[in-house]
Amino acid sequence: MAERIDGKVIAAEVLETVKAATEKLVSETGVQPGIAVVIVGEDPASEFYVRSKGKRAEECGFKSVTHRLPAETSEDELLKLIGELNADDTIHGILVQLPVPDHIDDGKVIQAISPDKDVDGFSFVNVGRLVTGQLGSAFVPCTPAGAMVMIRRTLGTGDLSGLTAVVVGRSNIVGKPMANLLLAANATVTIAHSRTRDLPAVCREADILVAAVGRPEMVKGDWVKPGACVIDVGINRVPAPELEKKYRVVGDVDYDGAEKVAGSITPVPGGVGLMTVAMLMASTVTSAYRSAGLEPPGF
Ligand code: GUN
Repeated sequence: MAERIDGKVIAAEVLETVKAATEKLVSETGVQPGIAVVIVGEDPASEFYVRSKGKRAEECGFKSVTHRLPAETSEDELLKLIGELNADDTIHGILVQLPVPDHIDDGKVIQAISPDKDVDGFSFVNVGRLVTGQLGSAFVPCTPAGAMVMIRRTLGTGDLSGLTAVVVGRSNIVGKPMANLLLAANATVTIAHSRTRDLPAVCREADILVAAVGRPEMVKGDWVKPGACVIDVGINRVPAPELEKKYRVVGDVDYDGAEKVAGSITPVPGGVGLMTVAMLMASTVTSAYRSAGLEPPGF
């Protein structure tokens, strides 16, 4: 039976490191890390995420500001706010919660955020830093960054030399940055996707298998190489009439099948999902250290 990689435990460790680093920065320089989260409109799921980001930031000892803008906010008004936050020395991380309403160009908004405050890691500059291996100055999207922390802790090393990694999914937010992080750690990386021929056979080559496709329980037990480290990034709601809430949350991996074959595996819920907000806090304290000219803590 595979080792269960516990997102709750690892996220809590990351948050402890963030808190300690914040206390050290405040006591040594007087600089308090600051994060600004911007939400436009009233999408309930986005509101939930934004609230949890604000709460975690306060727990970490950050200055935390949430800008709630009405759905009819114009693109120019949003860009003006981003300009103000870019110029605000007390803010080290800026995150505009996506999606934004249709009349706003999300690409324009993302690129307007200063790359040195872009804690989502979505700007072209940070994508370029990641792809060229300049991780010392990059911000990396939080979900793949969290998955990478789980892989390092599970395998006990940041050097994946000689290991084969397969990432199923090629999104800009997870699949592509995940593949680049694995490559930067010396893994031999394949990105597989919906057009890949014989996907099960490709997955069976993986010492590290990352599933990020958004298809409930698509990756079966017999797709997994015996002893592999399986990272499930999927969060899918499936109907469950027997439950009061009428749905259940499952990953992209058939957990029951895969855990019999894998060496280690992340559950859903309770896995990678819990790492995302923790890594946002890690990126924000990292940004504050960089802006003070100090070496940030490692995660
Ligand atoms: N909406 C869903 N996930 C994310 C994320 O990682 N960052 C931002 N900014 N918006 C999101």
